[in-house]
Amino acid sequence: MRQRIVTPKAYSAEDEKNIVSLRPSRLSEYIGQKQVVEKLSVSLEAIRRRAETHEHILFYGPPGLGKTTLAHIIANELGTKIVSTSGPSLQRTGDLMGILTNLDTGDVLFIDEIHRLSPAVEEFIYPAMEDFKVDFVVDKGVYARVINVPLKRFALIGATTRAGLLSGPLRNRFGIFHHIDFYPEDELAQIIQRSAKILETKIDKEACYELARRSRGTPRIANRLLRRVRDFSLVKRDGVINIEAVNSALEIEGVDSAGLDNLDVKFLTTIISYYAGGPVGIEAIAATINEEVDTLEEMVEPYLLKIGFLKRTQKGRVVGQLAFDHLKQKPDGDIQKRLL
Ligand code: ADE
Repeated sequence: MRQRIVTPKAYSAEDEKNIVSLRPSRLSEYIGQKQVVEKLSVSLEAIRRRAETHEHILFYGPPGLGKTTLAHIIANELGTKIVSTSGPSLQRTGDLMGILTNLDTGDVLFIDEIHRLSPAVEEFIYPAMEDFKVDFVVDKGVYARVINVPLKRFALIGATTRAGLLSGPLRNRFGIFHHIDFYPEDELAQIIQRSAKILETKIDKEACYELARRSRGTPRIANRLLRRVRDFSLVKRDGVINIEAVNSALEIEGVDSAGLDNLDVKFLTTIISYYAGGPVGIEAIAATINEEVDTLEEMVEPYLLKIGFLKRTQKGRVVGQLAFDHLKQKPDGDIQKRLL
C-alpha cells in the first residue's frame, strides 16, 4: 500500500524517529486524556508510597493516540526500565523467555499489538502475569522436562487497537484498563503548539487550530502534518506558519478540510456510487477499491465513524449525511428512507 500522510501508524524508521522526538516523557507534560492521566497519577503515587509494583495495564484504542507514550511515561515516572516488544514479533516462547528473565523488580514489559500474540506465547505468558513464574519445556519427546523459572515482579503493559480480539483469559489477567480515545480539537491544538516549540517553529493560533481540525483527532498525524507545513513555510514562505501556509501545504499533501485523504474519499464515494450509499459489507468495499479489509478497518473507518461520516449497521456500512454534505453529493431518496 502507498504511504499515507494521514496514516495513524509509523510508516518508516524516519517517521518513528520523528514521533519519538516529540513524545512527552513525564505525565505533567502529557496533554489530553484527562481521566486516564488522573487515574494514572493516583496509581503511580500510591505505588511510590507503598514501594510496590504496578498492576498489569491494558491500553486500548485506535493507533497514534499515545498508548506507547503512556507506557514509557509510566516507566519513567517509576524510575524503572521499559522493555518494548510487540505481539507479531514474539512468535516463539523462547523469544519471550529471555526478555522475562532479564526483567528486574518493577520493570515494565510493553507489548504493542498484544492481540496478535501466537497462542503458544499467550499460554506461556499467563503464569508470568499471574504468579511471576514461567514453565519452560526443555528437551523433546521422552526427555522433555518442565522447568519452573521464577521471575521478578514486573508490570506488563499491553496495547491494542482491537480489544475485542483479545482472548478472555488474557484480558482477565490485566488489573487496569484504560481506553484511549480521539483528541478534541483544542487539545490537539495545544499538542501542536508544544511540538512547534520543540521544533523551534513559529505558528499562530489560527494555524494551530486549522491543523488540529485536519489531524483526525490523532496527535501522531498532527505532529506529522506540522513537520510538513513547517518545511513548506520554510521553503515557500517566511518560515512562520499561518493559516495560508497550512492551507497551501495541505492542499499539496492531498489532505482536505476535514482531514480526509484520497483513500478516505475513495472509500466513501465507492459506497455512494457503487452501493447507493450502503448498507454494504466491508469485504465488498475492500474488493472494489482493491484494499485489505484490515487496513480499512484499522486505518480508515475509525475516524470516519467517529465524525459520523460512516455508520456501521447490522446490514453493513452506510454513508452518513455529514459525509454527503462534505463531499457535496446527494443521497437518493431510497437511501434516505433506509437511513431513517
Ligand atoms: N505528543 C504526542 N502526543 C502528545 C500528548 N498527548 N501530549 C503532549 N505531547 C504529545
